[in-house]
Amino acid sequence: MAQPDSLPVVRSVTALRETVSGWRRHGLTVGFVPTMGALHEGHLTLVREAGQRSDRVVASVFVNPTQFAVHEDLGAYPRQEARDAELLAGAGCNLLFAPSVDEMYPAGTTTTISVAGPAEGLEGDFRPQMFGGVALVVAKLLNQVQADVAVFGEKDWQQLMVVRRLVRDLDIPTEVIGSPTMRDGHGLALSSRNAYLSEAELGIARRLNGVLATAALEATARRPLAAVERDAHATLLKVGFERIDYVAVRRSDDLTPFRNGVMDAPARILAAAWLGRTRLIDNMAVAAPA
Ligand code: PAJ
Repeated sequence: MAQPDSLPVVRSVTALRETVSGWRRHGLTVGFVPTMGALHEGHLTLVREAGQRSDRVVASVFVNPTQFAVHEDLGAYPRQEARDAELLAGAGCNLLFAPSVDEMYPAGTTTTISVAGPAEGLEGDFRPQMFGGVALVVAKLLNQVQADVAVFGEKDWQQLMVVRRLVRDLDIPTEVIGSPTMRDGHGLALSSRNAYLSEAELGIARRLNGVLATAALEATARRPLAAVERDAHATLLKVGFERIDYVAVRRSDDLTPFRNGVMDAPARILAAAWLGRTRLIDNMAVAAPA
């Protein structure tokens, strides 16, 4: 049984590499789960998945400034390392990598990474800085840890597709695994940002998944995608969302739109919507038409 309070923490890339190379000398395989902390059961399923696929698991907690815009919640993002460490240990994590901003981005860091393709559109339209920041930190983390596998959540579907493309294009020798979205009993995708919701907002937030499920069924039934998207948008406003950034049915892997609304490849419906100052995202697979 893991000792919840005994999770080793390293803060430097050197110390991280010492531990990981020690494991490797003993022939052990390594799994990795990058996070920004404020952990919940969704993150812990990724840790368990990594544990199923490898002998040792590293998790990182790093609130990455390069993926936040100045007006976003970087300063307010919840930080609770001691609690996170306890949860990670309980889920079978063997090492926590929690670097400082200076360790991750030493003065003089000037390299940027730009991933076209899956990073364009949707989140890329509304948070233009985000995927550059995600790509940079994920490339760095994967190089730092040198894991055999890294597990990412389907909750952030577009991010998962961006990471897959990044890893492929840069020949990073880590296998990327996608893990299904964990939801509460009402279908709401678990998210650190759910903590910002009032009781009333929570009730509205729990409708998002159902609206997407209905829209996905309509798309599968060959209803024109433009009509499906338009109705889902209107329904989200009707149930109480204040602003909808997008609701869109896209190709699953590169997130391009379907020409003429014909689903000729595996599809995903993705949405981002606002409640007060909280922005929620969700997505699900759209079954192919019969
Ligand atoms: P964060 O939001 O902390 O999420 C860390 C990982 O947990 C991501 O792969 C995310 O998709 C996954 N995750 C979040 N909620 C989930 C849920 N309900 N079910 C399953 N998985 C879930 O995503 C990031 O951090 C950052 O962008 C990061 C990749 C760490 C780079 O900074």
